[in-house]
Amino acid sequence: MEMADLRAGLRALRPTVEGRPDAMASLARLFLAAGLREEAAEVASRAWDQAPQESAARSVAAMVLSAGVPDWHFAIVHDEARNEAYDRALRSAVFPGCTVLEIGTGTGLLAMMAARAGAGRVITCEQDPAIARAAREVVARNGWSHCVQVVARHSSALQVEDLGAPADVLVSEIISNDVVSGGVLPVVDDAVRRLVRPGGSVIPRGSRVRVALAEHEGVARRRMGKIAGFDLRPFDRLAAPRREIAAGSPQLALRSEARDLFTFDFTSGGPHPDSRARVTLSSHGGRIDGVVQWLALDLDETVVYENHPAPGARSCWALGFTPWAEPAQFPAGQKVTVHGHLEGQALRLWACPSPSVLPEDRPVL
Ligand SMILES: C[S@@+](CC[C@H](N)C(=O)[O-])C[C@H]1O[C@@H](n2cnc3c(N)ncnc32)[C@H](O)[C@@H]1O
Repeated sequence: MEMADLRAGLRALRPTVEGRPDAMASLARLFLAAGLREEAAEVASRAWDQAPQESAARSVAAMVLSAGVPDWHFAIVHDEARNEAYDRALRSAVFPGCTVLEIGTGTGLLAMMAARAGAGRVITCEQDPAIARAAREVVARNGWSHCVQVVARHSSALQVEDLGAPADVLVSEIISNDVVSGGVLPVVDDAVRRLVRPGGSVIPRGSRVRVALAEHEGVARRRMGKIAGFDLRPFDRLAAPRREIAAGSPQLALRSEARDLFTFDFTSGGPHPDSRARVTLSSHGGRIDGVVQWLALDLDETVVYENHPAPGARSCWALGFTPWAEPAQFPAGQKVTVHGHLEGQALRLWACPSPSVLPEDRPVL
């Protein structure tokens, strides 16, 4: 059967399942399998509302509704430092009656903060239709529907006409652990060029990729070595070059000062000149297992959010750890150069003791 016929057949079933949560949830699952995400979310939401708690229908509806919704949505809103930083920056940038554009609605939290700060109108776009649907409900429940409009669309499909006029304030939180891999640069650049008035506020106005040398016991324990009398070390080359660890990991100890490897200006509209960067760090001495990377968000001139690693620190953003093949013991003062390459939306890091084993003039891979 052609996909178009299958979809038409499923749509024809809609009236037949009304009022029967089990059947509605099953149809929602079929909609999802047929790539009809919006219809799947709509029918599953109603099945969820109508089904008894802890029922089979709810479990199917939950499976449909949660498909493709990252679990971190439930963590980011509990990062109070993040929320407070955004709230402060929005209160400072928003003026009465202004138009705010948000990219990436999620729960609608930042859009409602902008409305509460006094915006005349907040247009917030969300690429995932199930998330947009839930956000509309959140906004209505909190009494902000008159001011906040949720548009279920990718930002690149928005036009100035959708906003009425170029936005006075652009706000987004589409920052990944390494800053770039969620696509923030092309997305924000596109919005700044097309949808924000010249001189409008951009929150965050920039971001930095921060690095330091570090010891991390857990990394060593994840190397292969000898197991049950067998040497498994050739398998080590299959390990991901970057692992993610929590900001407050008690196993992590910094072994150098911290420095910015990349600095991105989100107000510029791109392009961003530095796709290759290097910084030299000075070892504090002790064991070094590799390089730890975290982020700083410059929300405005004064408000900065940073998930600086420290035992017990909390952040919804994880740290990236790039381990060395073997731990090293360096004397205090030993220089180590950390290199970073931006390849599309991927960030690749590596580090070697200075002077670099690669001569300065040799092209780096
Ligand atoms: C990290 S969440 C942020 C949610 C909310 N703004 C907050 O800060 O609590 C990012 C959301 O943006 C959406 N998103 C990412 N890039 C987008 C784009 N270019 N256009 C529309 N939505 C986008 C994702 O689907 C996700 O729901």
